[in-house]
Amino acid sequence: RTGDVIVLGSINVDHSIYVDAFPEPGETILARAGAKGLGGKGANQSAAASLLGATVHLLGRVGDDEAAGFIRSRLEHFGIDAGELAVSADNSSGAAYITVESSGENTVAVVSGANADVDIESLTRAVDGVIGRLPSGAADVVGLAQGETPARMTAAFARRCRTAGVRFVVNLAPAIELDRATIALADPLIVNEGEARAVHGRLGSGPIAVETTDDALTAARRMLADGLAESIVITLGADGAVVARRADGAEPGDAVDAWHEPSPAPAGVVDTTGAGDAFVGALVALLSGGTDLKDAVRWAAAAGSAAVTKKGTTDSYPDREALAELRSAGSAGAGP
Ligand code: RIB
Ligand code: NA
Repeated sequence: RTGDVIVLGSINVDHSIYVDAFPEPGETILARAGAKGLGGKGANQSAAASLLGATVHLLGRVGDDEAAGFIRSRLEHFGIDAGELAVSADNSSGAAYITVESSGENTVAVVSGANADVDIESLTRAVDGVIGRLPSGAADVVGLAQGETPARMTAAFARRCRTAGVRFVVNLAPAIELDRATIALADPLIVNEGEARAVHGRLGSGPIAVETTDDALTAARRMLADGLAESIVITLGADGAVVARRADGAEPGDAVDAWHEPSPAPAGVVDTTGAGDAFVGALVALLSGGTDLKDAVRWAAAAGSAAVTKKGTTDSYPDREALAELRSAGSAGAGP
């Protein structure tokens, strides 16, 4: 079961090239292949959630250009509601230039373009418009944001969500300087190891190590104890994720429920770009249907594993059938 997801996020055209090894500075190399796909963390997470059955409304910004046509057709392909997409007259659509090595590792450079525009008024109108049209009101709705949108926009979005009774989730990738009060609304805050260090370094009680799984578990507990968010998920790539949340009914500082969720081993690593977005999109899709965080993280880890086995970001994400197959050997509980 899944519900509605409102995503405030970045939308890019991803231009990926596949190489044997990263070029050295000053070196020219021949790539094995090139590809163009829908990307940007907002669009990626939207696609991942939509493929698993969530009804996804994407609030983002594109330019008034050719790339926007490609973006719209891909959003439509993934069944994402783009009715509230804003168009920037004087900025181009976002683009990412991605190099993928044969190991599956990548480097990414992003030209933000329209994604960097700030327009709180039209964002607020868009959020209210979407919520107003939902048959169920705010029940079964999750609001999701990432770090590729200006912090002021995310802060306004989070507040609008919470005022309407919508659960707010943020994937602070990259770890931009979002204000503490906004991050505190997140249930959960999702970060990778580096982002966890950055957020805790800036807002928590001193530096934390996130080298091993045990470190990460301790870090997640500390981030929760420091009141950084309602619940914390630290993603660990191939090692899955750790989670910390208050035990049922507990007040801040009281009993904590924390655990490590391993990832199922992928069938082979082809391209890790956007695997974290597959994780986040799957997680919110399940949360929107009322699935408990524990089961949702389990399915999210499986979605991340599936995504690394194929080229590209959105074009590599699993649908319900693919995910169910991957998890059928495990004990993932009720699926999407
Ligand atoms: O997380 C992967 C994404 O980061 C890519 O799709 C690229 O567009 C950048 O935003
Ligand atoms: Na992939």
